[in-house]
Amino acid sequence: MTPLVSLDNVGVTLGGVPILQGVTAQLPRGKIVALIGLNGSGKTTLLRAILREIPCTGTIRFHCGHDHQHATPQHVGYVPQKLRLEANLPLTVCDLLAVSLQRRPLFLGVARSLRRQIADMLTRVGAPLSLLDRPMDKLSGGEQQRVLLALAMHPDPELLLLDEPAAGIDFKDQESFYQLIARLNHERGVTILLVSHDLSIVHKHAHQVLCLKDGRIQCEGSPHELSQGVLAQVFGAEAALYRHHHPHG
Ligand SMILES: Nc1ncnc2c1ncn2[C@@H]1O[C@H](COP(=O)(O)OP(=O)(O)OP(=O)(O)O)[C@@H](O)[C@H]1O
Ligand SMILES: [Mg+2]
Repeated sequence: MTPLVSLDNVGVTLGGVPILQGVTAQLPRGKIVALIGLNGSGKTTLLRAILREIPCTGTIRFHCGHDHQHATPQHVGYVPQKLRLEANLPLTVCDLLAVSLQRRPLFLGVARSLRRQIADMLTRVGAPLSLLDRPMDKLSGGEQQRVLLALAMHPDPELLLLDEPAAGIDFKDQESFYQLIARLNHERGVTILLVSHDLSIVHKHAHQVLCLKDGRIQCEGSPHELSQGVLAQVFGAEAALYRHHHPHG
């Protein structure tokens, strides 16, 4: 089957420094691909290249929707690593989703039908409707990530790019967040590229793993194929040891 996205010899240079080099990989349609690697290895940069936020050399081809080269926001949902919210901006969850969905200015208010649509978006990601009128900056990390996921899942993307979506979320919330991701993948067939540092999550939920090291693909394969030796090369001996103690995820 054609992959949803194919990357061919992708390179990114930022500020004169090569950040990604010769990245060739495929994202199989309907699968969850985990992107792992140490801090600074280029994971976020690769996501931004796929989003076309930054220029790259080589080719990134989408085989989705009606266009084979460029994916529009309708095709790609993105949950960024960090949300930069102005601390004192009293934007509610409903406001944030409303400005993202409609072109009319917020001071005209949110129409009742739009509010219903926003409520549906929250329900879809298992977020309680009590979040609707809460200010974004007062939500917990887990609640914020769900709202961002609700936005990323609108209207119906073929590809979801998740950059450490559960970092800073407590263990219990993390578990339910990843179950939700797996369910969205399973039920809607959305292809997911997931950046994670948590190898047990990767083992449990990813169908395929890409390891980046110093801006290059160091190894790839199914989570089970990645031997301790390979992981040790990417992460150092500690990670291999970690896996040894958690053989089943
Ligand atoms: N605009 C920029 N100009 C120069 N260098 C940059 C720029 N943006 C990122 N970099 C560098 O590119 C490298 C890769 O950064 P990137 O954010 O992709 O890493 P990452 O794998 O996502 O790391 P982390 O796990 O910490 O999120 C880092 O060394 C970073 O400092
Ligand atoms: Mg990053």
